[in-house]
Amino acid sequence: MNKKILSLFLLLFVVIIAGCGNKAEEKSVSSAGVSGQKIAVGTDASFPPFESMSPTGEPEGFDVDLIKAVAESQGMNVEVKNTGWDAMMNGLENGSVQVGIAGITIRDDRKKSFDFTAPYFTAKQVILVKEENSTVTKVADLKGKKIGAQSGTTGAFLIEDTLGKGYSGLKGYKEIAGAVEDLQNGRIDAVVADNAVVKKFIDKFNLKNVKIIEDKTVQQEEYGIAVKKGNKELLAKLNKGLETIKANGTYDKIYARHFSK
Ligand code: ARG
Repeated sequence: MNKKILSLFLLLFVVIIAGCGNKAEEKSVSSAGVSGQKIAVGTDASFPPFESMSPTGEPEGFDVDLIKAVAESQGMNVEVKNTGWDAMMNGLENGSVQVGIAGITIRDDRKKSFDFTAPYFTAKQVILVKEENSTVTKVADLKGKKIGAQSGTTGAFLIEDTLGKGYSGLKGYKEIAGAVEDLQNGRIDAVVADNAVVKKFIDKFNLKNVKIIEDKTVQQEEYGIAVKKGNKELLAKLNKGLETIKANGTYDKIYARHFSK
């Protein structure tokens, strides 16, 4: 090989290496930068009125407005991504998202992996049945029946806590909509899910011949915004943001937008 070609190759090699170096540097700056960095927020946009997908494919709803307002009040930049429930939970642990907001009930078992903000919404599990099922007044009455709930959520936990771990009539769904659909076409007898969401599904899909049953013995739940356990700095900002928007009326405005008709 003559010298000219060799030096050309050398030059090319140096250029390539330099190019790689630059890219790597750019990458680490954008992912490790602190101020002005976009915070990835995971959600499961199948849970109206808290989160659902807009006609143009953007997550929207009470939680989405809430986290945006909280972030804005703290000068933070957020991007809300519809990861789905399980990927949101896993993403919080592996760092692909920094915040989870999805009507997540604050629970002691979840506190092992996550830290939660102060509660921002009170909820309760309710039972949705066909109107003809008039004998059902509580979760225990569903014994022997097929019941749908979103897997990994408090609806499913309540069924198992009441009717036994691994209760064979429990059908787990990825999204509540699937359970509601199965109730309508008779594949299951009941759905257990969060009260405001069940109400919303009745309105949204104009469900007929169904009724909501409130079991008086079922405990209330509180929703919190989740971060990975130990992320104190971010948690403090989120709590400050929540306080701010509760005090300045923004929370009430967001509430009115999604809960009054
Ligand atoms: N509140 C319930 C829980 O934490 C259900 C939340 C489901 N949220 C959703 N976006 N699918 O288990």
